[in-house]
Amino acid sequence: MSKEVVLSGIRPTGFLHLGNYFGAMRNYVRMQDEYNCYFFVADWHSLTTHPDTKELRNSVLRVIAENIACGLDPEKVALYVQSDVPEIAELYMYLNMLAYKGELEKTTTFKEKVRLQPENVNAGLLTYPVLMAADILVHRAVKVPVGKDQEQHLEMARNFAERFNHRYGDVFPSPQAFNYGTELVKIMSLDGTGKMSKSENQMATIYLADDEELVRKKIMKAKTDSGPTEANSVKPDYIENLFTLMGLVSTPDVIEKFNTDFNNCNIRYGDFKKQLAEDMVQFLKPIREKSAAIQEDKAYLGKIISTGADKARANAAATLKAVREAMGLNYL
Ligand code: TRP
Repeated sequence: MSKEVVLSGIRPTGFLHLGNYFGAMRNYVRMQDEYNCYFFVADWHSLTTHPDTKELRNSVLRVIAENIACGLDPEKVALYVQSDVPEIAELYMYLNMLAYKGELEKTTTFKEKVRLQPENVNAGLLTYPVLMAADILVHRAVKVPVGKDQEQHLEMARNFAERFNHRYGDVFPSPQAFNYGTELVKIMSLDGTGKMSKSENQMATIYLADDEELVRKKIMKAKTDSGPTEANSVKPDYIENLFTLMGLVSTPDVIEKFNTDFNNCNIRYGDFKKQLAEDMVQFLKPIREKSAAIQEDKAYLGKIISTGADKARANAAATLKAVREAMGLNYL
């Protein structure tokens, strides 16, 4: 039996951080043996909000390098750049005829972007979910690892697929959200406000590219308080978050020690953060070094990207052939 198709994309609009790593990339790495995986950098999507392409090239290359450094094996998965696959644009156009202005205008992310960038409410922004549907459907993917904020888009992709199938004949399976068994870890920002972000509150977000000094500095500045006053009290969320991070990068005995200290009200947050910072530095070091080495090696990067494009295009072309046949757009 052929493996199920898993697909996910990431916009290159900033630096990848711990939230991306623990919430997404680490799971992709686990999926690569079990599924037929397509992972890509959504550079077209980033144009809907970042029309200036000055930094785009470096961001795209960095995201590719970081994904490999985190353990994605470009021999096993198709790792590619969206704009290298013109079949996606063709499918996007067909799907646009099946997407209604009213439903697009009601999309939560669209309304949010209209609020954030009222001076640039472009048609690409409105049809963002259609492009995302094309990304998914072009590989006839059934499993799509995404966070909560993308579930509405995924539901729209299912609707577009269903409308297509209903009108022209069965081509697309129904894509579903997929998050590898257990719940997703949420990584909150170090100042205790919201999630870590690719482009906002940079001192409260730890990026995979941060050097050792910066990682130490950010963790030492993380929000704490004067400590618990009652034994076994509930941790405030900003403290819980630091323990979550420790749970991901420290050894069991270290985690247990600080938990016990917390529960006995003799935790010293200075020491706690120092330990967390050291363990985080050790954790990130191989990823950062590998990513930097890959980014230096332009020939290797070029080969990865072109191999990924070939794999993605071969599969996408097969889907487009089925699409054109179903639609009767085959005149030759
Ligand atoms: N919209 C996604 C995000 O903002 C990125 C994305 C683009 C994506 N195309 C996709 C995710 C297809 C999953 C599948 O994070």
